[in-house]
Amino acid sequence: MPLVVDIVTIFPEMFSPVLSVSMTGRAQQRGCLVVHLTNVRDHAPGRHRSTDDTPYGGGSGMVMRAEPLIAALEAIESARGRGHRVLLTPAGTLLTQALVRELARRPHLVLVCGRYEGVDERVSAYVDQEISIGDYVLSGGELAAMVIVDAVARLQPGVLHNEQSAAQESFEHGLLEYPQYTRPAVFRGADVPEVLLSGNHERIRRWRRQQALVRTRARRPDLFRQLVLSSEDEQLLREHDQRPQATTGEMEGTR
Ligand code: ADE
Repeated sequence: MPLVVDIVTIFPEMFSPVLSVSMTGRAQQRGCLVVHLTNVRDHAPGRHRSTDDTPYGGGSGMVMRAEPLIAALEAIESARGRGHRVLLTPAGTLLTQALVRELARRPHLVLVCGRYEGVDERVSAYVDQEISIGDYVLSGGELAAMVIVDAVARLQPGVLHNEQSAAQESFEHGLLEYPQYTRPAVFRGADVPEVLLSGNHERIRRWRRQQALVRTRARRPDLFRQLVLSSEDEQLLREHDQRPQATTGEMEGTR
């Protein structure tokens, strides 16, 4: 069964250039992902079909009106069922890989893109969840919706070449990714770490685990604090820290 994603937006033309290429494009071609775009303007009443209005109480900027947004949600429900409705807003719950996994399990997502300076608060009663993709303000929810589509599509069965790669990678286990290298073995004087050329799979596994641990400790102490370290992890960190050339945490990973 494909993942069905409905997107409610005043800028439907933003999506195809992004979602029709690369992994999301392949997912659609293979029938793993179906994207429907709904233009809010098509559900706005009146000759002007306006989707925004001035805020009650005054202030600068415009507010997206509830009526056309809810009419769009109801039209989608009539056509394809209720779906899990998500409003993209900087005031929402922060998106994490754990939340991406939850969203990816749902068969039908309805992503509502806010615009302008805000959305009429009464829209909240018609959505199941409000999500922010980070602590910064975009000019609208469209880019955030594309981020969500990308992150959930790559978890759908049959989308990635290697099913294991999604399960093994960064964040899936609360660690940052270890460093990767490809040819040539020397690039402008910088070599590939010797262990990766050794062919010794156990040494390579241990080195990668060590690198992921050291990087996470240096770059993301917030993630590192949440880790439950195995005795091997403790040993790998000790080995790293005892090496004569071991860099300090602060310097780590800033190259
Ligand atoms: N709309 C504007 N900024 C946003 C953000 N950071 N996340 C989700 N939607 C947004």
